[in-house]
Parts: sequence; C-alpha cells; structure tokens
Amino acid sequence: VRAWDPDSGVLEQAISWHEHDLAAEDDSGTRVRSLTAAASLEQAVGDADYVQESGPERLDVKREIYALLDRAAPDAAVLASSTSAIDMSSIAQGLAGAPRCIVAHPVNPPHVVPVVEVCAGQATSQDTVLRTMGFLREVGQSPLLLARYIPGFVVNRLQMALLREALSLLDGGVASADAIDAAVRDGLGLRWAIMGPFAVANTNADGGAREYLTRYGPSITYLMGDLGASPVLDAAFIERVGRATDALEHGASRTDLREWRDRLVRGIVALKADDPHPGTGG
Ligand SMILES: NC(=O)c1ccc[n+]([C@@H]2O[C@H](COP(=O)([O-])OP(=O)(O)OC[C@H]3O[C@@H](n4cnc5c(N)ncnc54)[C@H](O)[C@@H]3O)[C@@H](O)[C@H]2O)c1
Repeated sequence: VRAWDPDSGVLEQAISWHEHDLAAEDDSGTRVRSLTAAASLEQAVGDADYVQESGPERLDVKREIYALLDRAAPDAAVLASSTSAIDMSSIAQGLAGAPRCIVAHPVNPPHVVPVVEVCAGQATSQDTVLRTMGFLREVGQSPLLLARYIPGFVVNRLQMALLREALSLLDGGVASADAIDAAVRDGLGLRWAIMGPFAVANTNADGGAREYLTRYGPSITYLMGDLGASPVLDAAFIERVGRATDALEHGASRTDLREWRDRLVRGIVALKADDPHPGTGG
C-alpha cells in the first residue's frame, strides 16, 4: 500500500503509526512494513488496482482530487472515496472515469471496525460495485451495499437517531449521561455487536419479528411518536454535554480510552469469528 498526503507531517505520522501499532508481525515478531510513503499523488496511484481517497470533506476539493486521480491512476483502478456524506454523483460529475468512481465509507475507528458502506453514484458501473465489494472482503472488511444515495448513508443515520434521543433525554433531565451510556454499553450494545435491529426484533418474541411487531405494535408506535426532537446545539448545551462527558473519563487520557476501545473491539470481532451465526457458520 502506498500513501500520500500534501502535508508531509501527516504522511510521516501515518507511516509511523502504521509501523508501531498496526502492521502485522512475522514469525519472529518483527513488524512487516506494508505501507510506504509516496512522493506525490501520481506516484501513489500510478500502478494501483484500488485507490482509497480520504481527503478533506469538501465537494470542491474532492472534485479537484478526483480529476487528478482519474488522470494518474491506471484505467482499471477503482477510485473509492471515504466521504461520510457526499454523493459520488456530485464528485464524479462530468469526469471521464466516472464509471470507476464509488463511495467506500469506513467507520471510525476504521483500523478495527470492519464495516464499510459502499454507495454507487449515478454513473458508477456494476463492475466497479462488484470489484469494490470483492476487494473490501478480500482485505478483511465487511462491506454493505446501499441501493441508492441518502445523506449520512445508513451508519450515520442510525447513529444520529440514537444520539438525538440520548441528547434529548439528557436535556430533559431524564437521566445522567452515565446512565444513558450504561443503557447502551451494559444493555442494548451487547446485543448490537451480534444482531442489528431486525435480528433483535426477530429474537424478542417466540414468534419472531411478526409477533413482536404485532403484539407490541401499539406501544412501539406510541414510543416512536413520543421520541424527542433534535436539541439545539448552542454553546451552553454543548458545554453541558462536555462537562458530562469529561466525568465519563474517570481521569483516563483520551489516548488510553481509544487504545482500550480498540483492544476490546478487536476482542469482540475475534469472538464473533470464533462463534459464527448458527445458520451460516455454526
Ligand atoms: N474522521 C472520521 O471519523 C471519518 C470517518 C469516516 C470517513 N471520514 C471521511 O474521510 C475523509 C477524511 O476525513 P478526516 O477526518 O481525516 O479529514 P481531515 O480534514 O482531518 O484530513 C484530510 C487530509 O487530506 C489532506 N489533503 C488536503 N488537501 C488535499 C488534496 N488536495 N489532496 C489530497 N489530500 C489532501 C490533508 O492534508 C489532511 O491530511 C473525509 O471525506 C471524511 O468524511 C472521516
């Protein structure tokens, strides 16, 4: 893999981070260097099969980068963007290589979280979709394909639905930030690592999702109508959330918290691989 960034400090940091924390070890315990720094964008992508663009989240900058990539990368290379929100139809508009351009949105922290959202633009070819899905699977990611573009794709829409309600519960004084987080980390989240909302609904009643949605239908409909509105993110409210989240650190540094998070996420991923879905892998 070759990486490039116009800011040489960022590039050096990425290479060193990879060498110290991410690179796989060989039998003797030596880190295998698989990421090298390129001197230019052209050198980075000149003979690439697959390009992952992670430049600034601005349409004008993405369009400039894609014009350069389309000229510099071999015709057969896929040009995938990490964009969290921009439609590939807009980025690749008018570009000769638009059929090979696609969104492949990783999820934070991308070095431990397998899911990648794949979303084609209007001009993206079916071949590009299939090759992107195949490539991501091959490198150990878990790609999910959207049938069409929608702002925030799937992951951030789900994340924002939960964050909106969490902020609303805090704002309304219903529970503390720690109690709301506990509902997820010691409750819902334990299931969510192995089952999404549909599989959860399906296992919540003996008769599966049909019975769950029928028997609890009235209360589900009532609660959905009762959910809080988006809170106003003004300075005072942000400060209130900041004070609440400072307390959740219990004195640990953010670096320690991120390393702990990454370790445990890797552990969960490994557990899932050891004990796969009883229908498909058990
Ligand atoms: N940060 C996240 O949690 C996250 C998660 C998923 C996806 N993304 C997406 O990944 C992309 C990068 O996100 P980020 O948070 O690292 O952004 P960032 O703004 O911190 O970093 C952008 C990088 O692009 C470089 N850059 C600037 N101009 C460039 C150019 N013309 N060509 C190439 N590189 C250039 C910058 O030097 C910088 O290192 C965005 O599209 C973002 O939406 C971010």
